[in-house]
Amino acid sequence: MKIVVIGGTGLIGSKLVNKLRELGHEAVAAAPNTGVNTVTGEGLAEVLKGASVVVDVSNSPSWDDAAVLQFFETSTRNLLTYEASAGVGHHVALSVVGTDRLSESGYFRAKIAQEKLIKESSIPYSIVHATQFFEFLKGLADISVVDGKVHLPHVLFQPMAADDVATGVGRIAVGPSVNGIVEIGGPEPFRLDELVRRRLASLKDPREVIADPNALYSGAKLSERTLVPGDNARLGETRFETWVAQPAAQVPSAPPKATAVAVGSKG
Ligand SMILES: NC(=O)c1ccc[n+]([C@@H]2O[C@H](COP(=O)([O-])OP(=O)(O)OC[C@H]3O[C@@H](n4cnc5c(N)ncnc54)[C@H](OP(=O)(O)O)[C@@H]3O)[C@@H](O)[C@H]2O)c1
Repeated sequence: MKIVVIGGTGLIGSKLVNKLRELGHEAVAAAPNTGVNTVTGEGLAEVLKGASVVVDVSNSPSWDDAAVLQFFETSTRNLLTYEASAGVGHHVALSVVGTDRLSESGYFRAKIAQEKLIKESSIPYSIVHATQFFEFLKGLADISVVDGKVHLPHVLFQPMAADDVATGVGRIAVGPSVNGIVEIGGPEPFRLDELVRRRLASLKDPREVIADPNALYSGAKLSERTLVPGDNARLGETRFETWVAQPAAQVPSAPPKATAVAVGSKG
């Protein structure tokens, strides 16, 4: 099948393209630096010719609430319009577990808007809700600093390896549309503040992590299970302990652009 991966040069997208190619599919990485821009429409008609599936794992380059909303709305509208003209039979989008519970956050309001457009469109779809990526833990610390200390709530958290996210999204992309949401998550639950503390220790980062019940995630107050997937979630195999021992985990990943936006603390 021809499968176009929007954001195919990003963290998840590049892994996904490789996995789909290994399965024998014609996977095409689409992003501004491959000549495809979903916001302006540049290159979209051309890249979608003959595509059976489109997987959207793009992210907004801007951290600003209004810009994120504009990115996901414009990009998703353009994609769905061009997909309808090209006869694409399955639109897959990557979103986040708990998105509907995080509407206090500008970033998550944008993801809610993205999902609404997909659900209302005529294209068969699957929305994959993933938990946070292990690769995001250091970035999460960086943007949760108040007076030199990292403030995070002591809530449940079930993150996963980006590689398992790509595997999970790939499985959905090559199957029939579910016309609903599928949740994927990590194999074991942690406490948010505790796991970030462990991640910083693994990087020999001396910053202290404070369990702060008032600390916000992406601008939203969390309750005990906001970030945790439901009982039917498909769980990745990679445990944190295994991931953190891999050579790739010895260097901090760059913080995700937009998810990094508004994690903060009421101070
Ligand atoms: N961070 C988390 O823990 C987490 C958890 C669950 C779900 N997610 C979701 O995962 C998705 C992907 O995240 P990621 O970390 O893999 O993102 P990423 O590494 O920042 O990659 C974003 C991709 O989007 C592309 N892109 C940006 N603007 C574009 C445009 N106008 N047209 C087409 N492509 C464009 C980028 O291309 P360039 O590099 O050329 O700009 C890049 O390929 C996001 O939707 C996010 O909501 C994240």
